[in-house]
Amino acid sequence: MAEIREVKKIEQRASIHSHIKGLGLDEKGRAKVVADGLVGQVQAREAAGIVVELVKKGKMSGRGILFVGPSGTGKTALAFAIAKELGEDTPFSAINASEVYSTEVKKTEVLTQAVRKSIGIRVRQRRQVYEGVVKDVKMKIARSRTNPMAAVPREAEVTLATKDEQKTIQVGDVVATQLYRYNVRKGDVIWIDAETGDVFKSGRAKGVEGAKYYDVESTKYVEMPTGPVRKEKEIVNTLTLNDIDLNVAAQNISFGILSSIFGGEVNQDVRQQTDRLVMKMLRENNAELVPGVLFIDDAHMLDIEAFSFLTKALEAELSPILILATNRGITKIRGTDVESPHGIPVDLLDRLLIIPTRPYNAEEIREILKIRSEELGVEMTQESIEELTKLGTETSLRYVSELLEPLQVIAERNGRAAIALDDIREAVKLFADVRSSTKFAREFESLLLK
Ligand SMILES: Nc1ncnc2c1ncn2[C@@H]1O[C@H](COP(=O)(O)OP(=O)(O)OP(=O)(O)O)[C@@H](O)[C@H]1O
Ligand SMILES: [Mg+2]
Repeated sequence: MAEIREVKKIEQRASIHSHIKGLGLDEKGRAKVVADGLVGQVQAREAAGIVVELVKKGKMSGRGILFVGPSGTGKTALAFAIAKELGEDTPFSAINASEVYSTEVKKTEVLTQAVRKSIGIRVRQRRQVYEGVVKDVKMKIARSRTNPMAAVPREAEVTLATKDEQKTIQVGDVVATQLYRYNVRKGDVIWIDAETGDVFKSGRAKGVEGAKYYDVESTKYVEMPTGPVRKEKEIVNTLTLNDIDLNVAAQNISFGILSSIFGGEVNQDVRQQTDRLVMKMLRENNAELVPGVLFIDDAHMLDIEAFSFLTKALEAELSPILILATNRGITKIRGTDVESPHGIPVDLLDRLLIIPTRPYNAEEIREILKIRSEELGVEMTQESIEELTKLGTETSLRYVSELLEPLQVIAERNGRAAIALDDIREAVKLFADVRSSTKFAREFESLLLK
């Protein structure tokens, strides 16, 4: 349960940065003014590029970075851009510091899980597989043994072809079920693990006779495999420590140790089992460590206990790269009376590279608004873009970019396809920016509940 909730939260947060595809740097690591959905913030992007390089070279492990800057200057956006640059294989997990203080799960548990989601193990295995382009699939569907109302695939006959060979194989229900579930059809390139029967779809091969092609954006086109259909294949999988914990826990359950997962928490024994297993694989060269990134937004909201937990986590044998972000200057470390830069204890600060992010000028705000509105499918007149830009310089980028979607609704209600000046005037009356909402609260302090 805890698992599912967390994933959802991250997706929501990611969507306000969905226009960001990377750091937008050239080969020399210089930031292009507008690229990969990012605008300006040149120095911070170049600094982030160097961090990406260090991570790839394995030189950032056990260290971290801290983005410091006012609200809406792209700290979270840059953290996501770093994740994009690191590639699919690098684990990246993101939490907001406030999530640490859940009422259901212990602080250290939330942090431990986040840390273990940010450390990857790349496992290479040589497996016997059948691989090729699907030329034909014939399924035998029968009534399910456990649910007579449902029909399930019982067996199948698959014809696979490479550039050099064609082979028809008979498969049982384990494989047939997966062929059915993944909707494997003519023209797909697949491989089937000869031992476990696991089926993997690598993509579509172009130009297969009798295959239908729907040009869906997400379709990946791949080369037709060569050589024999049955062969040895090197398979690379990157799992996080948390993936392995869940696996180990599930196995323990099937052996009858039911207490392994307890109220959304993973038992420490399970983690020790995982660590032993992983260390053994690393020592025997059966796996490689892939240190990932743990991003904690609004880091000033962490307390002294959380900070010492993180400092210790960075010193551990298996440790992630920590990215923190904050918009606070000198402030009290939560849970103490001690003041410190950004509310972060100095022993942790010592391990962090600090990257400042600066407020945007009008041109940058205009560009970011254009990119955001395109991403959201929001139409604006030239005048409205100018008006919003002006408003953005007076209030904040945050405020105006959050206003785009309400503006779209307002324009629609006013029967307009594109946002006009009148819509903006209306929106400003309905939604306050932070400065005017605090002013409002102060004026009405006596009337508002405290
Ligand atoms: N340089 C940029 N280029 C393109 N889009 C940006 C840039 N900087 C910020 N944005 C976008 O502007 C919005 C606000 O930025 P973001 O949330 O990253 O700010 P932040 O510094 O994390 O603010 P806070 O301190 O309030 O958390 C987001 O939609 C973000 O994707
Ligand atoms: Mg942020």
